[in-house]
Amino acid sequence: MCGIVAYIGHQAAYPIILKGLKRLEYRGYDSSGIALYGNQIESYKKKGRVSELESWDSPILQEAHAGIGHTRWATHGEPTDANAHPHQSNSGKITLVHNGIIENYASLKAELIQKGYTFKSETDTEVLVNFIEDIQINNNSTLEEAMRIALKRVVGAYVIIVLEEGYPDRLIAARKGSPLVIGVGEGEHFLASDASPIIEYTKSVIYVNDYELAIISKDDIILKNLGNEPVTPYIQQLDMELAQIEKGGFDHFMLKEIFDQPASLTDCLRGRLDVSNLTLTLAGVDQHLSVFTQAKRIIMVACGTSWHAGLIAEYMIETICRIPVEVEYASEFRYRDPIIHPGDVIIAISQSGETADTLVAIERAKEQGAFIFGVVNAVGSSIARLSHAGAYTHAGPEIGVASTKAFTAQLTVLAMMALKIGKAKQSISEEAYKHYLTELSQIPEKVQVILSGHESIREVAQVYAEANNFLFLGRGYNFPVALEAALKLKEVSYIPCSGYPSGEVKHGPIALVDETLPTMFIATKDKYYDKIVSNIQEIKARKGKVIAIVNPDDSAIRGVSDHVMEVPETDELLAPLLTVIPTQLMSYYIGVLRGLDVDKPRNLAKSVTVE
Ligand code: F6R
Repeated sequence: MCGIVAYIGHQAAYPIILKGLKRLEYRGYDSSGIALYGNQIESYKKKGRVSELESWDSPILQEAHAGIGHTRWATHGEPTDANAHPHQSNSGKITLVHNGIIENYASLKAELIQKGYTFKSETDTEVLVNFIEDIQINNNSTLEEAMRIALKRVVGAYVIIVLEEGYPDRLIAARKGSPLVIGVGEGEHFLASDASPIIEYTKSVIYVNDYELAIISKDDIILKNLGNEPVTPYIQQLDMELAQIEKGGFDHFMLKEIFDQPASLTDCLRGRLDVSNLTLTLAGVDQHLSVFTQAKRIIMVACGTSWHAGLIAEYMIETICRIPVEVEYASEFRYRDPIIHPGDVIIAISQSGETADTLVAIERAKEQGAFIFGVVNAVGSSIARLSHAGAYTHAGPEIGVASTKAFTAQLTVLAMMALKIGKAKQSISEEAYKHYLTELSQIPEKVQVILSGHESIREVAQVYAEANNFLFLGRGYNFPVALEAALKLKEVSYIPCSGYPSGEVKHGPIALVDETLPTMFIATKDKYYDKIVSNIQEIKARKGKVIAIVNPDDSAIRGVSDHVMEVPETDELLAPLLTVIPTQLMSYYIGVLRGLDVDKPRNLAKSVTVE
């Protein structure tokens, strides 16, 4: 996810674009850049926050009335000045910004290299700008024609906005799969990933649809489809405040990020899981497959929510790959002089890629000769750089301090890893492999189904918002979900919460149970189901309140619980991807009902870069 802004009109473009990029920083903040058209096109781009662009000093800042800007959340290539957008074609004629992922960039790049094109960055975007230029030169066509041809061959998602030397009065934009809004002003037009950079200037907007191209001057907007047929622009009036727009209309980033999950999981699977051929491509694993298939032991190292993802991956990898797995708190592992053998693989899991404990833990393991694989969300972060190989989770920036969409993306990557390794080791049958891939491909829509039922989860949250204590129980794959649910509710509601395997409850936690204690059971259909039913009865016999997460066709648990929350069925190995969603929503609603700042819980930081 990145943010893009463009302006063309009677005002100076630079301050409008700079301010717009600051408003879009929540979409990505590892590097940024602006290209302006004065007498010619000039660009300035920098690693770091958008404020770095304030150091640009050139007469063009006052002169230019057209320009494009970008704030980046890296997908291909680390955050560096060179990888920041805008990118320019080899001749310097075309300059563009891009939000999205070009999946077939590697084959397009190989084609272009053969033709003599050179690249200054590692990005898919620089491939795209040169691909457009190559078509324009070969076909002797206009930029607009070349874009139409190029975009038909591009696989993936994009919004691009393009400037061309010789055409100072025109921007061309196109979209597929990523958002683009045009702000309609008087003698000026604005373009952006969402309306937040625009709303200050105009409330009249056009939402561009997939496969549409917009040719924009200060007085005109022409919309066409990729078949060059005109499309009538539909101008609507915005009725929203700025803060709401930044959060996509949600009250908090946490809620937005919970609702982002169908899209973030689709992004995570994109270009990796091909459901039509039932194949998996995971470059970081593919390139080191023998390291994994020959691994004697895998050690997961992480903190907090990422540690919970590691616990679930332990179940996945031991089941599918038959490799022993240990899951370590990074803060313990780094100090306890761990024994590392040749053939051990360390998987470091981290949303931020900057968590100090995880970073030092993998440094120690690396010194002892371990192979380090990073499962990281923030591209180019310290953990990503220190790892020998890795797979990014592509969840997009997570702003809410309590982790939600990063967790489900971590689980998705770890499931794909288990399947890749299991297939290579032949420790699962071809049939089971295909079954898991099919189930995995359906997860984003099943998450959407759960989110559509958010209202009934809010009603349950209302009943328990004033609880003084909470217990979360699950077995098997759902045990770590109970831990994660307890952590989430604790973080955003400050209610003391504990998570246990259901089988452990009679070894101590049952002492807490009375008519005031809510216990949430994560009780989807799996091999533990009958045992969970007995565990629920043990709680009910002591007058405890029971909330259960169940599958739609469940009757036994529904009959004995006070409240149920439904999740669609899937294989038990993937169940955490679904069962965690109602727990995230319930935590959010309870936090809000208690009047707390769920996006910034007290005493917590998003990225824990100190011990
Ligand atoms: C919980 C949460 C934290 C993080 C932990 C690790 O909601 O966000 O527990 O999971 O601090 O952070 P990363 O994944 O960035 O290493």
